[in-house]
Amino acid sequence: MKERLYIFDTTLRDGEQAAGCQLSTVEKIQIAKALEKLGVDVIEAGFPASSPGDFNSVVEVSKVVKEPVICALTRCLKSDIDIAVEALRFAKKKRIQTGIGTSDYHIKYKFGITRGEVIRQAVECTAYAKKFVDDVEFYCEDAGRTDNEFLAEVVEAVIEAGATVINIPDTTGYCLPEEFGKKINYLKHNVKGIDKVLISVHCHNDLGMATALALAGVENGARQVECTINGVGERAGNTALEEICMILKCHKQIGVDTGINTKYLVKTSRLVSNLMNMPVQVNKAVVGRNAFVHSSGIHQDGVLKNRETYEIINPKDVGADKSQLVLSARSGRAALKSRLKKLGIDVTDAVSIDGIYAKFIRLADRNRYITDDDIIAISGQDIKDVKSVSILKHKVSSALGEGAKAYLKLLVKGEEREAEATGNGPVDASIKALKKIVGDDMTLQEFTIQSMTRGSDDIGKVYMQILYNNNLYYGFGASADIVLASLKAYIDAVNQFI
Ligand code: KIV
Ligand code: ZN
Repeated sequence: MKERLYIFDTTLRDGEQAAGCQLSTVEKIQIAKALEKLGVDVIEAGFPASSPGDFNSVVEVSKVVKEPVICALTRCLKSDIDIAVEALRFAKKKRIQTGIGTSDYHIKYKFGITRGEVIRQAVECTAYAKKFVDDVEFYCEDAGRTDNEFLAEVVEAVIEAGATVINIPDTTGYCLPEEFGKKINYLKHNVKGIDKVLISVHCHNDLGMATALALAGVENGARQVECTINGVGERAGNTALEEICMILKCHKQIGVDTGINTKYLVKTSRLVSNLMNMPVQVNKAVVGRNAFVHSSGIHQDGVLKNRETYEIINPKDVGADKSQLVLSARSGRAALKSRLKKLGIDVTDAVSIDGIYAKFIRLADRNRYITDDDIIAISGQDIKDVKSVSILKHKVSSALGEGAKAYLKLLVKGEEREAEATGNGPVDASIKALKKIVGDDMTLQEFTIQSMTRGSDDIGKVYMQILYNNNLYYGFGASADIVLASLKAYIDAVNQFI
């Protein structure tokens, strides 16, 4: 029987501290509901003493969340704890996290007090919080740079005062994973009462090691990991929830299990990214757009023979649609044949595939991105015969301050259909016209525009992600006209489910 590792999500507190990622109460509620569905054990909903807005968010999140524990952060101040108690009044299960800096950097430069005074305040605040809630977590800020002997003294004192969870943060992401693992091990063997409490690790990503640090903590006895969706957080961020959960799922020998329903990882990642207005790094482990995209011919050939040749995670396990092969100048015949087959273009004889491949490579060397429309054209087919939805005519007009108007004529499964719509800009108007034709029961989840080079005459690339029937579909469009590229991307996604 595997041991349980508790997932403490701090997207709404440490995650929201990331510059430019502030969330409103309504947005926090949306994320909290998604985190509950994902199966996190604890939601750190905010730092109520920091602002009336954050206080209100903790109140409202407490009202809607039933299963996870709701945690509120405080400094080692009775006034902060009073405010947290008030903010948590509706929570079904509640926790207060209080703490103080324990490294000499904090003691000397931030507080200008003695180590003895740190212990006195730590004990006083833990005992004070304990008067209001049973579940008290104590954090030793900058524990990563605190010497182990003093850290053990602080931890022993706060356990004595009633702490139930001990949080050991590497606040500056400074430690090496092995060193951090040894720190947890040291506490396990040198603190009286440590077996009665849960050890938590909270690691930052300043040297790109936040997940490795948390893992080292788990391997040495920590049974709670504090993490955020997409690894967002102060400065370079925190341990990414999706990474730690998938590491433990892929490496069963570690012997711990989380209660995370990993099928919701990608969806939750997109929600957080959209609401925080913080794009997910394309090559981000587990949830990045390229996490299951294979580009080189050798890899594509392998994946077509057996997905596991180049994938250690099944995309379906994290809620990503499927593995994808992109066509580029590095692709081989196997990927081209597979795409032709997917498009329903029947090319069986070697002579024709050689001919199409030669044209494809010439185009790919020039274009970098090859779309389905390109493949259809070089194989001598008509797009209308291959795709369920194709554009026949598209016109937009817009004027400064007056919004925009779009006219669209599509061929939908052989039938010509047209619509007009207005919107706050040409893309909005075009997509509204499209939805009038193909249906309104889909929502845009991600919309990214990139230019290929730098000039104003450049080709624009648009990536979109559409949610339809609870499934996510990716679409790609490229054109010198960015409105048309957007429309093409939307239609590319729609073609996958229509
Ligand atoms: O990084 C840190 O030390 C923190 C604490 C407040 C838990 O975020
Ligand atoms: Zn932190």
